[in-house]
Amino acid sequence: MAATTEIPPTAQAFDSSAPTYDAEFTHQAVPLLLRELVWRECDRVFPRRARLLDVGCGTGEDAVYYADRHCTVTGIDASREMIKEAKGKLRRMRIDKSKVDLQDLPVDRLAELQPVGPFDAALANFGVLNCVADLNGFGRDLSALLAPGAPFVAVIAGLSHIPTELDLIRRGRFSRVLERVRHPEMEVPVKEVPVPVHCWRTTQVETALASWFTLERCRGLGILIPPPHLSGFYRRHHRLFLALERWEQRAGHLPLVRDLGEHVLMVFRRNP
Ligand SMILES: C[S@@+](CC[C@H](N)C(=O)[O-])C[C@H]1O[C@@H](n2cnc3c(N)ncnc32)[C@H](O)[C@@H]1O
Repeated sequence: MAATTEIPPTAQAFDSSAPTYDAEFTHQAVPLLLRELVWRECDRVFPRRARLLDVGCGTGEDAVYYADRHCTVTGIDASREMIKEAKGKLRRMRIDKSKVDLQDLPVDRLAELQPVGPFDAALANFGVLNCVADLNGFGRDLSALLAPGAPFVAVIAGLSHIPTELDLIRRGRFSRVLERVRHPEMEVPVKEVPVPVHCWRTTQVETALASWFTLERCRGLGILIPPPHLSGFYRRHHRLFLALERWEQRAGHLPLVRDLGEHVLMVFRRNP
């Protein structure tokens, strides 16, 4: 277990959010759809029976999915409470303990991980990289843990999601429209604890990782789907959104369109 004297604000915030994270986010209709899309993309590139590194694993939803699919997963997270929730979930779901190793370890101490061999794949799902200030250092440390040619899937928060902007306008919150584009460094309250968030453009992530990783594919997720907090609205109009989801399957990777996702998924390959 990581020895820390002072809990950094991001870990504190996610510690407070951990007990309700699944009820308020993971199990809501829109996040369920987005995660399904992430899994679809990961399933295309992750090798079968991969040794997978789940960076910022949260409550372990992806770890459970991949352990169920014959992968061995190492999940790390800066939040002890997230790791505690994830361990509880693994116990409840009777996942073989030898298939998942969970550690409370922040990204800036990734170099301390001592895997038995190199990982075959890595995932940083739902905004983990938006909490990381030093993407360059992260790329260097991650690449040292991955086998040459291994895929790394990063899912970062989108900068301009039209349904979110429309919802802000509907609620009269004009000053917040496109806030993430105008203020690339901001503080977002998570359970009332301000978390420093880096609103990365995909080109910034690509450039920061370029010494070790090559970007292979990029696509927007949930481009015309309401934001997660409007999951009830999405459920009520599910048939309409099905058509929009089909459109996204075809057009979500196109330049400009892909940047309009609620999240944006980037598939990298570790350079040989
Ligand atoms: C929005 S949650 C996503 C959790 C999970 N990946 C998922 O798909 O549900 C972001 C996670 O990143 C973790 N995190 C934030 N900054 C981190 C850091 N510097 N090192 C490791 N984990 C971090 C948080 O504790 C939190 O669990």
